[in-house]
Amino acid sequence: MHQFEAFSKTNDSRRGYSSPSLLLMPVTSLSSLGQSSPTRLQSYHLYRKSASVVAARGVEVAMEIEARPSWLDLPATAAAYLVWEDLTAVLPNYGSSRPVKKLLQGLNGYAVPGRILAILGPSGSGKSTLLDSLAGRLGRNVVLTGRVLLNGKKRRLDYGAVAYVTQDSVFLGTLTVRETITYSAHLRLPTTMSKKEVAEVVEATIEEMGLHDCTNRAIGNWHLRGISGGEKKRLSIALEILTRPRLLFLDEPTSGLDSASAFFVIQTLKQIAIDGNKTIITSIHQPSSEVFTLLDELCLLSGGEAVYFGNAKLATQFFAEVGFPCPSRRNPSDHFLRCINSDFDRVNATMRGSMKLLGDKEPSTDPLSKLGTSEIKAILVERYMSSEYAARTRKQIQEISKIEGLTIESNKGSQATWWKQLRTLTKRSFINMSRDMGYYWLRLIIYMLVSVCVGSIYFDVGTSYTAILARSSCGAFVSGFMTFMSIGGFPSFIEEMKVFIHERQNGHYGVAVFILSNFLSSTPFLAAIGLVSGSITYYMVKFRTGFAFGHYAYFTISLYASIAVIESLMMIVASLVPNFLMGIITGAGIIGIMMMTAGFFRLLPDLPKPVWRYPISLISYGSWALQGNYKNDLIGLEFDPLVPGDPKISGEYIIENIFGIDLKRSKWIDLMAIFVLLISYRIIFFLIVKLREKASPVFRMIYARAALKQSTLKRRKHSFSSRYPPQNPLALQEGLSSPLP
Ligand SMILES: Nc1ncnc2c1ncn2[C@@H]1O[C@H](COP(=O)(O)OP(=O)(O)OP(=O)(O)O)[C@@H](O)[C@H]1O
Ligand SMILES: [Mg+2]
Repeated sequence: MHQFEAFSKTNDSRRGYSSPSLLLMPVTSLSSLGQSSPTRLQSYHLYRKSASVVAARGVEVAMEIEARPSWLDLPATAAAYLVWEDLTAVLPNYGSSRPVKKLLQGLNGYAVPGRILAILGPSGSGKSTLLDSLAGRLGRNVVLTGRVLLNGKKRRLDYGAVAYVTQDSVFLGTLTVRETITYSAHLRLPTTMSKKEVAEVVEATIEEMGLHDCTNRAIGNWHLRGISGGEKKRLSIALEILTRPRLLFLDEPTSGLDSASAFFVIQTLKQIAIDGNKTIITSIHQPSSEVFTLLDELCLLSGGEAVYFGNAKLATQFFAEVGFPCPSRRNPSDHFLRCINSDFDRVNATMRGSMKLLGDKEPSTDPLSKLGTSEIKAILVERYMSSEYAARTRKQIQEISKIEGLTIESNKGSQATWWKQLRTLTKRSFINMSRDMGYYWLRLIIYMLVSVCVGSIYFDVGTSYTAILARSSCGAFVSGFMTFMSIGGFPSFIEEMKVFIHERQNGHYGVAVFILSNFLSSTPFLAAIGLVSGSITYYMVKFRTGFAFGHYAYFTISLYASIAVIESLMMIVASLVPNFLMGIITGAGIIGIMMMTAGFFRLLPDLPKPVWRYPISLISYGSWALQGNYKNDLIGLEFDPLVPGDPKISGEYIIENIFGIDLKRSKWIDLMAIFVLLISYRIIFFLIVKLREKASPVFRMIYARAALKQSTLKRRKHSFSSRYPPQNPLALQEGLSSPLP
């Protein structure tokens, strides 16, 4: 029987998942470590014990199937077989003399359900690039060619089709570990699951990833020291394994962990792979020998080239056959990296130097010390290409490419309803905003202080002749500079945006849900800012004498709307410039232009008609806010004349003849225009994100074609799959970050 038939038969008999709570095994869980980390010896014994537990799983699974929740039941055909052929990623040189940088060079491989494929290699060898290429997340400047097939078909693997644990962890730092997992579970697990069931899944995942010691600790952000780097790493894995995805990518899940923790993380992944028939692809840095024994397939990369791809257990045999046997007491992965990591040339030279200094004349017996790593790598690459291991890989790729009838869940990383996602996300965002000092609280305090300053400077402004100028400048300050201060929340928003981008890429929820939830959760804070600073300013300046609720309400609503518009505008800026320093500079520039065209620094009728009056002043919230505020403030008032004895000057006269503002339009229409801008800005944000998602493959293709036309790229050949024979130079998939139909 063919090896893969064997896989699928075994896995079909164990199809579906075991309940996460049943994956919880005292011996294999990190939780068994308690507070202190075990010694290497202890972890070895734990490993021995847990290895036997893995073996015993086959028997246990039959019993567990009875107890698994119904949402875990998936059709037997739901499995992910991934193959890639001739995968090449290059940085084009656009015809310059600079050589083309090949990040990946003609890689072939496969990943099958129930097994862990580990991508191993020195730093910079292309591990993350390979993962990104397979998951459809490659940088836009990189041109990808070759073919990736999921269950025998070309398919887009971005935005939810696969779960991806990235090298960097992205979280909302104010939330605790349990909250983060719980919200994520509510966002993605089926709405039909009860709260209790969700809580069980959360607890089981916490135990599985050994996070129970830090469940109630905040993750940490710029002002809050939170959980450790290793705990963050385990948390990001926990979030992705929550829903037991069919295809799971992990970029260095064990980096920053001690060897026992690393072992248990990989072991948990192994159990998920076996029990749930999942396909797991992970890059890994220098695994310990215990971890190495858990790996099924091995992809050994060096400088973007495959040194070995195949069964992990046979890798040592291959190295021995080529003439670089792994010493019996050395960890195989150490040995492989020792052979291909060019940094070891420098290590050798340094060691030789220090031995000389110590007077050690003994010549080294290590065969590796006689050859440079580039020579060793060249030998390995060449021998691998013509080896039976490569032939076996080719054959297996062919077999997998022929697979038909298997399905993978729809391109969605969540099974929760839209409504539930909105509720969960709004709650999460509100909690984050209320805990992050820099998001709104600090702004509220500053707004109060500034309001007191404005109030005392324009205190009891009155209706004297000079009050005309005072009122106009006070209105301009409130609708201009005071709203401008809202830019200060941008860094916190950028943090939220990062989480959104990460979760969006993994398909946790849609763009509309994010926009709406952000609006809803921020409304109480913005309303509070508008109300507090509006009240202080309004009653200190005394725009009206006596009780004039309508005027006061207009003033505060207008202030709230203007601040909310700035927030929406900064959302657009964040979608275009996802860096907080650059974003603040860009945002400040845009708001500066809006203030210039608001009608205070230059009256609206005097603004140059092209560009500044139309359209800039029309799309500037400032001009609508200022016009509305002037009308709200001045209509109905009478001011002293310049020369005593002259008739009083009416507010209407000032608005029409001094400020050149149309009185026919009601102040409420001006206010509505601000709300229209607010909604429009959010829609623009939505369109930008959507357009980027939809159009980016097309842009990538255009970019790739242009790049390839100009660059001096040379093509390597070969395709192993009979169904998709090689196409003309650089296939039609060039530039696509993932297999497109
Ligand atoms: N979008 C990109 N633009 C330019 N260079 C890139 C891009 N992506 C990757 N590279 C380059 O490709 C090489 C491989 O990078 P990659 O991140 O895949 O390495 P890695 O094996 O994951 O390393 P590490 O173990 O340090 O994470 C590096 O030299 C990197 O600079
Ligand atoms: Mg990497």
